[in-house]
Amino acid sequence: MSAPEGDKIDKLINPIESYPPAPEFVAGTSIPENLRERAAADRLGFWAEQARELEWSKPFTEVLDWSNPPFARWFADGELNVAVNCVDRHVAAGRGDKVAIHWIGEPGDTRTITYADLHREVQRAANLLEKLGVRAGDVVTLYLPMIPETVFAMLACARIGATHSVIFGGFSASAIRSRVENSGAKLVITANGSNRKGRVFPLKETVDEALAEPGHPVEQVLVVQRAEHEVDMVEGRDLWWHEQLEGVSDSHEAKGFPAEHPLFILHTSGTTGVPKGLWHSSGGYLAQTAFTFRTSFDQREDDVFWCSADVGWVTGHSYIVYGPLANGATQIMYEGAHDFPSLDRWFEIIEEYGVTAFYTAPTAIRGYMKSGREIPQRHDLSSLRLLGSVGEPINPEAWEWFREVIGSNRTPIVDTWWQTETGAHMIAPIATQDALKPGSGQKPVPGISVEVITEQGERVNPGEMGLLTITEPWPSMARGIWGDDQRFIDTYWSQFPGRYFAGDGAGVDLDGDLWLLGRVDDVMNVSGHRLSTTEIESVLVDHELVAESAVVGAEDETTGQAVVSFVVLKDSQREAAASIDVEAELRGHVAKRIGAIARPRAVYPVAELPKTRSGKIMRRLLKNVAEGKPAGDTSTLTDASVMDAITEQVRARG
Ligand code: WTA
Repeated sequence: MSAPEGDKIDKLINPIESYPPAPEFVAGTSIPENLRERAAADRLGFWAEQARELEWSKPFTEVLDWSNPPFARWFADGELNVAVNCVDRHVAAGRGDKVAIHWIGEPGDTRTITYADLHREVQRAANLLEKLGVRAGDVVTLYLPMIPETVFAMLACARIGATHSVIFGGFSASAIRSRVENSGAKLVITANGSNRKGRVFPLKETVDEALAEPGHPVEQVLVVQRAEHEVDMVEGRDLWWHEQLEGVSDSHEAKGFPAEHPLFILHTSGTTGVPKGLWHSSGGYLAQTAFTFRTSFDQREDDVFWCSADVGWVTGHSYIVYGPLANGATQIMYEGAHDFPSLDRWFEIIEEYGVTAFYTAPTAIRGYMKSGREIPQRHDLSSLRLLGSVGEPINPEAWEWFREVIGSNRTPIVDTWWQTETGAHMIAPIATQDALKPGSGQKPVPGISVEVITEQGERVNPGEMGLLTITEPWPSMARGIWGDDQRFIDTYWSQFPGRYFAGDGAGVDLDGDLWLLGRVDDVMNVSGHRLSTTEIESVLVDHELVAESAVVGAEDETTGQAVVSFVVLKDSQREAAASIDVEAELRGHVAKRIGAIARPRAVYPVAELPKTRSGKIMRRLLKNVAEGKPAGDTSTLTDASVMDAITEQVRARG
């Protein structure tokens, strides 16, 4: 852990221009004026009120049980069905004809799915899962593209009380293998391929590779036909989704499950080599995702919302599936890449569908800043009324550009800070009430208690930076790490007793507003995706050429951070290494073992790693050099000349 740093520091003490809400933006909002005050006055009452917006088959009488921290139980004696809340109740309320999802395939095919359609499809999928023997409490793994079936499958799991474990479609076979083993899934749902940049990404083959060796829990693989792509079907294990749906009834009676029933597991990188399977509840999770969706994005009945994340990340879970659908919203779901067939694609979609709220990551914004404002500007983006940012710190320049170029100098930008562990937004401005500051997350969500503290656990003063902690339990908090309660305690709750430590640094400005500064631990953030330095290091030393490795997240103009690795090759392998392109080999190895998102930007084979006398690798020095800066203080190293040699090597590469 090291003290936070960032380009926002001067903003903490210097007054900056802010953007008060425009009267025409505020008109017609349903966000109550005094939300924060009400929540502060009665936090539990406030959350109970939010939870009562959901439909409960058995109303709860308890709000929070915090008798066994850090394992919270919210609304625990209540029962509800999450799928009913996301689908059936809207149909029952006469909104069956409202569009739930405007789905757009990368090749240009489209589907319009109303709430009535969604109702039918989710019921069919629920019947299908039950036909295959899936029961409440079972885990189902999903390795799927951004297609409607993914949403149907997630909601079908929720409907029957099965716990889904979605694996992002860019992850590798070994990542699937470890996640499937960790969650104990008996069924995997995948597709014969996904469309990505005009090509087919072979999802099914990757699942086959993951399951090739025995010793895993998977018994069946259900395959959605999506891409133009032939796949082998394993006899007795693999089934086609469309064939299995034949003759299945489209009516399914849903029953309620306890609020604390596990809705999903989602694996995320941590500070050790092994990904953590965070698991979330049903009632508390849905209450907070639904509340934050309508509040952070100031939802209106006619809005067309679009979250550009992949459903395989928590952002997709909370703000493509559960948050929007719980509110009966209309949204866009786009299968493919933002730059296929050209960089105009996103803006064409915004224009064609009249998107009103667009939620994306700073990496994408910075990418467009680089490509040039003429790309968004050749489209009519006047339907947009609000923009959102998530996943990584947004620099003030990118914030201003987002507002000016994409938001026509008019739209508010809401920067939302949260994590896989928090389930839903934790820090975000209320766009109808706050004067927005470029680059600041501003205030905790109503009902959330945040404190920025020093390493000694003392609250920082206005104008200072520190570590971001959460001091009170919240409804959508992860309930644990699947199968490893102790790791949950150790990872998040042990540094500062009684508080959740997020692993992020933050500053507090003179007005008390929060500025998010990124990770302070060994987690990197590349294009808004979390990667663990330790995990990549252990994959590298698993390669036969490599004796030691050190990985750092180096600042990158577009992706926020980039993976840069330094390796020491085994003496015994020097000859073998001389005959191949070591860098290409190792970059490929990481991509194959974890996924393309983890592929290092550079791999430097070095003679030695910089170590202190106690043998600790000084990653900070490597990070400085990888960022083109001077290495810094090398006086604690056993041998300072090691760093000189590395600096030379990195400079020579340019
Ligand atoms: C980072 C994504 C600054 C942060 C929702 C956090 C952010 C990690 C922001 C969680 C933001 C997310 N400003 N940093 N608005 N949002 N982060 O679990 O470092 O994929 O700890 O959840 O992303 O990443 P995760």
